[in-house]
Amino acid sequence: EWTMDSFVEKSIEAIRAKVGDGKVLCALSGGVDSSVAAVMLAKAVGKQLTCVFVDHGLLRKNESEEVCSVFGPEGPYDLNFICVDARQRFYDKLKGVEEPEKKRKIIGEEFIRVFEEEAKKIGTVDFLVQGTIYPDVVESGAGGESTVIKSHHNVGGLPDYVDFKEIIEPLRDLFKDEVRNAGRQLGIPEYLVSRQPFPGPGLAIRIIGEVTEEKIKMVQDADAIWREEIAAAGEDKNLGQYFAALTNMRSVGVMGDERTYDYAVALRAVTTTDFMTAEPAYLPWDLIAKVTSRIVNEVPHINRVMYDCTGKPPATIEFE
Ligand code: XMP
Repeated sequence: EWTMDSFVEKSIEAIRAKVGDGKVLCALSGGVDSSVAAVMLAKAVGKQLTCVFVDHGLLRKNESEEVCSVFGPEGPYDLNFICVDARQRFYDKLKGVEEPEKKRKIIGEEFIRVFEEEAKKIGTVDFLVQGTIYPDVVESGAGGESTVIKSHHNVGGLPDYVDFKEIIEPLRDLFKDEVRNAGRQLGIPEYLVSRQPFPGPGLAIRIIGEVTEEKIKMVQDADAIWREEIAAAGEDKNLGQYFAALTNMRSVGVMGDERTYDYAVALRAVTTTDFMTAEPAYLPWDLIAKVTSRIVNEVPHINRVMYDCTGKPPATIEFE
């Protein structure tokens, strides 16, 4: 009988047998798939595993700290963890760049460069871990995407750049909800296991126009409020994805007796089954009103809040 319990146990045994006393390298993004894969490897081979986490400074509020506290030395796992603070490198590269596709390219390339530098320090490894899951396998098998709508970036794109012998993909046969359950079975904290999809280029593509540290802070804070209130209202389980994006529009407002000329934030929440199409979520007005009032009061330089009522198509789920 197939149970998640026995799947996890058998996978760990199989990894141990395969790896022997080899060295294993894993690119950790903090997302569900790479986190579950990393913990599985850590349980199987401990210190033979090195995880590299690149902090590009474009993650959600507190996310970098969360990843480091789970996988770092104060966390429960016995592995080698390297957190690369590459924030300034990415900010420098993104200076003046407005086009979403250009941002994606720059971030993807810089990510590989940073990872490659770390891999070189480690030297030759025997195995590279990939958080590939079953839908990824099917998607790449189907192939033939004729129109590039956007260039996807995730930690899956590394093999060419690192010196290794073999790939390990412990989640290859699992669907997303099974990956989450495997993560729970492995004792990974719920906030990591139940994380929503998050694009590799991070908040850079949820900021329209030039990315600046000030704008990153704005979108992080607005997004944290939106997510907190959605969870508090119990709406999170009904939604496929929800986040805040910073438009590049500034407009006149009034705060006390003062005129303001500040940014508009867009709230996005969609329902979807496969992320290929999506519908805007019909959320209670109370919730939207409360979040609006919190954002304009708590986040400096935002004086308007909008709700994105567009489905996919014609929009995409992301707001870039
Ligand atoms: P769109 O915006 O194309 O997004 O409707 C569909 C889903 O894909 C996610 N997404 C990404 N995931 N790397 C990823 O790993 C990326 O570069 C990327 N871009 C978009 C998006 O969050 C949504 O879930």
